[in-house]
Amino acid sequence: MNPLKKLETLSWIDGGHFSQSYLRMIDQTLLPMELKLLDCRTIETVWEAIKMLRVRGAPAIGIAAAYGVCVGLQPLLVDGKQPSETAFFERLKQSCEYLAGSRPTAVNLFWALDRISAKADSLRGKASPVEIADALLTEAKAIHEEDRAICRAIGNYGASLVRDGDSLLTHCNAGGLATADYGTALAVFFAATEQGKKIHVFADETRPLLQGARLTSWELWRRGIDVTLICDSMAALVMRQGKVNAVFVGADRIAANGDAANKIGTYGVAVAAKAHGVPFYVAAPVSTFDLSIADGSFIPIEERDGEEIRCGFGKRTAPAEVRVYNPAFDVTPAELIQGIVTERGIISPVHRESVKHKALNTEL
Ligand code: MRU
Repeated sequence: MNPLKKLETLSWIDGGHFSQSYLRMIDQTLLPMELKLLDCRTIETVWEAIKMLRVRGAPAIGIAAAYGVCVGLQPLLVDGKQPSETAFFERLKQSCEYLAGSRPTAVNLFWALDRISAKADSLRGKASPVEIADALLTEAKAIHEEDRAICRAIGNYGASLVRDGDSLLTHCNAGGLATADYGTALAVFFAATEQGKKIHVFADETRPLLQGARLTSWELWRRGIDVTLICDSMAALVMRQGKVNAVFVGADRIAANGDAANKIGTYGVAVAAKAHGVPFYVAAPVSTFDLSIADGSFIPIEERDGEEIRCGFGKRTAPAEVRVYNPAFDVTPAELIQGIVTERGIISPVHRESVKHKALNTEL
């Protein structure tokens, strides 16, 4: 494999007709051992891919869901069929509800489904179902394309916080695999490197599904960034040893007061960073803010199957009968966050007013 070859996390493969096209994605569960593409031609395949983390990371889940709705509409539109408006909107509603049930925490999933539904509603009574379906595909492609630009902007703002020679730490994977391209937290590292800054990155391996080991260390290595993989339990030590200048992580949902949900273990990293005077930054697009949620205690946290911990990657490491608690995310309180890097700039200090103004794009 050529490590510099550009990879598309997600792509829409045009089969010449709406109903013949499909969603292609990198199956991230197989990385880094195998780079395999998965073609999703049914909405069930898209749902399963999101649920099983074949595609994962908040922005990528949103993009996959937007395309997933289009895949879900296809059975109504085969062979140039023109369904009734009622049948079309019923199927659209079912498709959105079905995909919304795949994973609960990343708000980008719901944001993308809402955006697709709103587009359809705006055309109801003005265009035929076939035309609306085409418009929804255009909207899904727009969500996909916009995310590329958003990641670049996040990277550029975030790189202003990085100095030449810095050693940085990240948790989970908030890279190109978690977005359309380039990432959020990792975008900061890529942009800083492109600006000619020499950096080093500690990647937490991120138990239990090892997104840091399997995906982040792989992405950074492929892009030629100096990366050191550590177990999650080593993060506090490397901070105490003075080896970390700043932490950058992504987010799955940010409440109105700035509390941020991210991969399980992020909260512990933030506590350790506070204890050692290391600035802790969250990098996320505005679509990750959920202003309807007052604070992090209201963010729904996904709990996953205990087998992920008892028998990770097919290797039994605990008694099959033992009880397991497996929340996939935790919430870092706003007071531990030095700044939130968005495509509209950096929110710092992080509090209800500053979050609201940046999320709504108004002046403070
Ligand atoms: O369970 P995952 O792998 O979907 O969790 C992903 C994360 O927690 C990421 O840090 C977050 O979605 C931000 S991705 C830009």
